[in-house]
Amino acid sequence: MVLKIALIGAGLIGREHAKLISSNPRVQLEAVADISEAGKVLADEYGTRYFFDVREMLDATKPDGVIIALPNAFHAEAAMACIERGIPSLVEKPVADTLEAAMQLTEAVERKGVPVLVGHQRRHSPDIAKARQLMNEGALGRLVAVNAMWLTDKPTNYFDAAWRRQPGGGPLLINLIHDIDCLRFICGEIESVMAFSSNEVRSFEVEDTASISVKFTNGALGTLLMSDTAVSPYNWDTAAGQALYFPHQPENTYVFAGTKASLALPLMDFWRHENENSHWQHPLLRQHITLDGSRAYENQLHHFLDVIEGKAEPIVSVRDGMLTLATILAITKAGKEGRIINVADMLG
Ligand SMILES: NC(=O)c1ccc[n+]([C@@H]2O[C@H](COP(=O)([O-])OP(=O)(O)OC[C@H]3O[C@@H](n4cnc5c(N)ncnc54)[C@H](O)[C@@H]3O)[C@@H](O)[C@H]2O)c1
Repeated sequence: MVLKIALIGAGLIGREHAKLISSNPRVQLEAVADISEAGKVLADEYGTRYFFDVREMLDATKPDGVIIALPNAFHAEAAMACIERGIPSLVEKPVADTLEAAMQLTEAVERKGVPVLVGHQRRHSPDIAKARQLMNEGALGRLVAVNAMWLTDKPTNYFDAAWRRQPGGGPLLINLIHDIDCLRFICGEIESVMAFSSNEVRSFEVEDTASISVKFTNGALGTLLMSDTAVSPYNWDTAAGQALYFPHQPENTYVFAGTKASLALPLMDFWRHENENSHWQHPLLRQHITLDGSRAYENQLHHFLDVIEGKAEPIVSVRDGMLTLATILAITKAGKEGRIINVADMLG
């Protein structure tokens, strides 16, 4: 049976979701809802129905599943409208813009049992899955240190959409949240964070640059660097070749260093000594693990369809998305208040 998918939000990523749906034989694009002209244009392009109002679309078309690609502040409300109607949804990240909204959504999902998948698509990429597997198998020994970078230069007109310049938007919540989600997935929970943040280049209300220190519950320490105003290939989106509308410029952006070996992603460079008695005066062996990481978004869509058909539980649940959100909001708070923030304190 071909599943009917409705799309809410016809912006940058909504248009990519429409493209992914149209090239997947398991689904058809049933309708598009958006308050702007972009919604009608997209619906016409794919020969499907257009709605201004989200609830009207859900009631009129009764889709099998919904993809929510709205600005961050509208995610929870749209997901709630789907839950109320028993319709599974894939909600873009962050799961919500506040922890209060994320908690309400988590409570509704767990009470009503209607699945919601959060759009952290990198978890559907084999390099991220392999890194988690190697970490869990102990291939790196005891994890000691982690480094991650997300540095790139967004064009000025990207910020024409006001929500991207305002609290609830910003590159921590829009971009670095993916990296935090990957680090949680690979290394385990982050216990506490410290950060500097700056808006000195773009002068928006939200940050454009941040440097962050984190402590994992397993004792490992990490640093992250983020800027959306730096010319650099050191960001997952261009380095991994998984993003939908970016050039592929291979580089490593994550380093995981353990007492036995180091692993750098997305190039999957595994560095180790030849034997156990070696140390820094002995050359290291470098091993490449070859993986095709180009299909993260396609894999995510297939997984969502499996969730709709009851064949799988969401790989990224709303509760999981909430924990990633809590970590990012702890970083935002640490940057503003200039002090260490415990992630658990964010959740009360
Ligand atoms: N996973 C990814 O790779 C990825 C990439 C980009 C964006 N995102 C996320 O997707 C979401 C959308 O981002 P974007 O860059 O596409 O935003 P965008 O501003 O380009 O598009 C948002 C669309 O939502 C519409 N809209 C706003 N309020 C609405 C409402 N109340 N009802 C119906 N439509 C409404 C707007 O008219 C616009 O067309 C964000 O949460 C962002 O964080 C995820």
